[in-house]
Amino acid sequence: MRARDTDWEGVRLHVITGKGGTGKTTVAAALALALASAGGKVLLMEVEGRQGIAQLFDCPPLPYEERKVAVAPGTPGRAGGDVYALAADPESALLEYLEMFYNLRHAGRALTRLGVVDFATTIAPGLRDVLLTGKAAEATRRKVAGRFVYDAVVMDAPPTGRISRFLNVATEVSGLTRMGPIRGHADTVQSVIRSPQTAVHFVTVLEEMPVQETLDGVAELRGLAKGGLQLGGIMINMTRPVGLSDDQLAAAAAGTLDVQDIALGLKAAGIEDSLGPAGNLGLAGSLAAEVSEHAIEALAQREQRHKLDEAGQPRYELPMITDGMDLAGLYLLATALQEQGAA
Ligand SMILES: Nc1ncnc2c1ncn2[C@@H]1O[C@H](COP(=O)(O)OP(=O)(O)OP(=O)(O)O)[C@@H](O)[C@H]1O
Ligand SMILES: [Mg+2]
Repeated sequence: MRARDTDWEGVRLHVITGKGGTGKTTVAAALALALASAGGKVLLMEVEGRQGIAQLFDCPPLPYEERKVAVAPGTPGRAGGDVYALAADPESALLEYLEMFYNLRHAGRALTRLGVVDFATTIAPGLRDVLLTGKAAEATRRKVAGRFVYDAVVMDAPPTGRISRFLNVATEVSGLTRMGPIRGHADTVQSVIRSPQTAVHFVTVLEEMPVQETLDGVAELRGLAKGGLQLGGIMINMTRPVGLSDDQLAAAAAGTLDVQDIALGLKAAGIEDSLGPAGNLGLAGSLAAEVSEHAIEALAQREQRHKLDEAGQPRYELPMITDGMDLAGLYLLATALQEQGAA
């Protein structure tokens, strides 16, 4: 039913990780919008209990319930689909699990009051994870009248440092085999996560630390990839246009820009006397200094971009939105992802 092929055709669960603060929540939301723009229904899910999605879409805190938060931008001749959101937490997921498998909603409430749910999810961190990934797997597979409820699910997942453990639930809960049904549940979840239906995307910015974390994360997940986990794209977030040729970049970074030239350029643009009095930098001089700083930064970013080649995964660039992140900004990011074939 899609309007055209995308790089991730067949993927129905998109997991978004990356270093903290690089834009995981923002990029997850943009990807959800991009995926929904073909007219489908997409679920955007967060698992860290931070209410980042509600903040981003400027709506009240999300309950443990799927709520429509946005309409996607359409494509020519086709209206955009809907983005639903869910803030999942392990406690609610456990209660839901108990209800689904044992019809235990009321017992579940009593267990909550007694602190048993807290207790269970605290002593067994692997259990927390399997409940959260389990919820994502359930939403991904959910069908009504033989049709998938969601065309795609996008998960705003834990950061790079915790992602492989988070996704490797089968091993993590192996100590819990006494809880037989959870074991079976974990196996089902793994079969979804380690299938061509799932891809793990990395968000980064072009700075040393996030790029290194991305490369480390990719290498770590490659280990799991042998078990069927599919690596996705690398989303380079907050990029800025450079606007200088290679020669200009090199000269500016080396501080050898010709200030007289700049002054002449300014004069041609109607700005006189930009050289200032002798001994003073003047406008042309300050401009040269600024351009030089910009060039040094641009070259450093180029080096980081080059380093990302090592990951050997498809890359997408998302521009820096300079006038505040709102729905319009998210639409711009969603369009960028679509134009590059990510959705
Ligand atoms: N492309 C962009 N242009 C401008 N600002 C951006 C962009 N992407 C993200 N931001 C801003 O950067 C900040 C961090 O983004 P976000 O909350 O999405 O990151 P995160 O990786 O989810 O962070 P955390 O690790 O805290 O969950 C936010 O203020 C967000 O609005
Ligand atoms: Mg976040």
